[in-house]
Amino acid sequence: MLKANANYLNLPGSYLFSTISKKVAAYKEANPDRTVISLGIGDVTQPLSPAILKALHAAVDEMGARETFRGYAPDLGYGFLRTAIAENDYRARGCDIADDEIFVSDGAKSDSGNIQEIFDEKCVIAVCDPVYPVYVDSNVMAGRTGLYNENAGRFENVIYMPCTAENGFSPSLPDKTPDIIYICSPNNPTGTAMSRKDLQEWVDYANKNHSVIIYDAAYEAYISEEDIPHSIYECEGARTCAIEIHSFSKNAGFTGVRLGYTVIPKELKDADGVALHGLWARRHGTKFNGAPYIQQRAGAAVYTPEGKAEIKALVSYYMENAKVILEALKEAGYTVYGGVNAPYIWLKTPDGVKSWEFFERLLNEAGVVGTPGAGFGPSGEGYFRLTAFGTHENTKEAVERIKKI
Ligand code: MLT
Repeated sequence: MLKANANYLNLPGSYLFSTISKKVAAYKEANPDRTVISLGIGDVTQPLSPAILKALHAAVDEMGARETFRGYAPDLGYGFLRTAIAENDYRARGCDIADDEIFVSDGAKSDSGNIQEIFDEKCVIAVCDPVYPVYVDSNVMAGRTGLYNENAGRFENVIYMPCTAENGFSPSLPDKTPDIIYICSPNNPTGTAMSRKDLQEWVDYANKNHSVIIYDAAYEAYISEEDIPHSIYECEGARTCAIEIHSFSKNAGFTGVRLGYTVIPKELKDADGVALHGLWARRHGTKFNGAPYIQQRAGAAVYTPEGKAEIKALVSYYMENAKVILEALKEAGYTVYGGVNAPYIWLKTPDGVKSWEFFERLLNEAGVVGTPGAGFGPSGEGYFRLTAFGTHENTKEAVERIKKI
């Protein structure tokens, strides 16, 4: 008898950003004369930089010439990109990561959603709360989370680690030991970042309890403070307990290009000594035919001297927006967090208004789209996220409008 995967039926509603898109589309249809500014989904607005464009054009030309045409890419990534990543993102920072521990992919969203496949269905996950919804949703699809409790806004078998203003948005070590711990730093959605000392504590905890940390470093390029680690492998012992996921979307503006990578050290093993590196390689081989050559050449351009300078300028551009939002909201009396090591500003909704209610108010009264904190988990209630990825002009206009409501 044909049956759909019942785990999917356990997902509450549609994906957070799809829900928001639908609401915004309906609003625009009803208000065709209103200009709506999106500071909602973390999508970039600046065009690709010259070094990347040059690499893309050159790669397209190569694909058009008989001698340099390429078919299937190696499923784990081209050597030129894996070496550039290992040298620049790891060895230059003193992290001991080999080229063949890097798995190139079509982006961090796919990797963070798919990585759970290499773990047993009974593994217990722990997530920061609020959390990037992909981690929980993908585990729901895998049947790992138990049932959803509508009133509590949580799944019965997931360990939620509250991150609120009260604990400085830093999760405490859980009472019950999880098998898989998701950490995103700098954090989406709170825009805060974990110190090297705090992250080391998590690494020690994971090694002691034989848990794995899935470390999402998508926003690493936005770190401005000294004691914030750019990689979990800056911590001692991380090679035996951590997987790291990276994106090119947020630093190089690849949201529409698609490229990312995941690192799995060879020493990382499950309780029976099975190497996770081999499982992820097996999964890539079966389900992935490699990121396109053209994109991988563009990714390698990120690590050239011109690419590095241009990306630094791009990051500064967006962080200038973060400053504008932070300052304007503070002036208007809002309590705000983040925006220093991350392109997200996390604010407390005024007068304890529910975050979806604030979403509607902002959209209807100011024509500005943000993301309700409750969409990221129960502890996100009463908070709201704005992104710094807009243009300067739209960001300034948006804060002026917000100040007026
Ligand atoms: C976000 O807005 O949280 C992210 O940009 C969404 C994503 O990267 O998938």
